[in-house]
Amino acid sequence: MNLPARVQIVDVGPRDGLQNEKQPIAADVKVELVDRLTDAGFAAIEVTSFVSPKWVLQMADGTEVMARIRRKPGVVYSVLVPNMKGFEGALAARADEIVIFGAASEAFSQRNINCSIAESIERFRPVCDAARAAGIAIRGAISCALGCPYQGEVEPPAVAYVARLMKELGTQHVGVADTIGVGTPHKVQAALEAVLGVYELPKVSGHFHDTYGMGVANTYAALELGIASFDTSVAGLGGCPYAKGATGNVATEDVLYLLRGLDIDTGIDLDKVVATGQWISGVLGRRAFARAGNAIAAKAAAT
Ligand code: HMG
Ligand code: MG
Repeated sequence: MNLPARVQIVDVGPRDGLQNEKQPIAADVKVELVDRLTDAGFAAIEVTSFVSPKWVLQMADGTEVMARIRRKPGVVYSVLVPNMKGFEGALAARADEIVIFGAASEAFSQRNINCSIAESIERFRPVCDAARAAGIAIRGAISCALGCPYQGEVEPPAVAYVARLMKELGTQHVGVADTIGVGTPHKVQAALEAVLGVYELPKVSGHFHDTYGMGVANTYAALELGIASFDTSVAGLGGCPYAKGATGNVATEDVLYLLRGLDIDTGIDLDKVVATGQWISGVLGRRAFARAGNAIAAKAAAT
């Protein structure tokens, strides 16, 4: 079996994680979270989003957060954008990369944003043109690639279809996102293989939410295909313990523990990530959703 020798982890906790938090979080905390992740050795961090504050108030301070983070040369600081207004924010904030998103489920697209998948992707065309002109990298997220809250099953050809639309827009890298965390390893492999018919291996990443506890298993399934890039979230940030159906990303700590056990290099200091996960969970007033992170922290506290 040819597992990759090196893997890139994008910590998306500051964006995909914190965007779900109902309690207001100070910009100071967001900045410290990103700085701690930089210090832990991540080569890419998804910092914030430039979306409508009417939709996601928690990310309304994206400009301030981007201005105050301590940037390490070579690290990619990315932001999620939904439209041209968001792109202008990203450009002014000197984002290294933008993230655009589209769903693989027609039902989700219709119910959520009242338009077809093709129309929703088409709205990103001016954004992608502007990003290319400005020399900003573009990453795409294919949401609901493993299942949809409205239509249930999502078949691999539907995932390949979105990948083709994204490639046509000029998106350089795509993430196969299990938004509601329902995927299991063979289904994850089928979805990834569909995308690998469109994008080359180094241009495809896995973005798994851990709702059903499959995040680490799905990561391993992707590794078996040679996938070497994953979005994860420190402390499993995302979703709320008090909300039904909480759906955080798979915890960075858990994925790093898996990779360390497989002798796969990431360049990231697991102990620093564990400390960061424990710190941010304390700030949010709860226990981290990171099995390996909590175990490592408990062991350290006992010695
Ligand atoms: P809309 O309400 O239809 O848009 O939302 P609108 O054009 O009518 O604008 C409404 C108001 O928002 C206006 O303000 C705009 O100026 C403002 P008003 O005139 O009423 O005062 N506005 C903005 N403000 C700041 N930044 C902007 C922006 N755009 C409009 N960029 C819209 C349409 C797309 C804007 C909205 O639906 C939106 O912002 N959606 C984003 C929601 C979001 O962030 N979702 C989570 C990210 S996706 C995700 O997490 C999945 C992923 O992790 C992968 C996975 O796991 O699947 C990526
Ligand atoms: Mg997500």
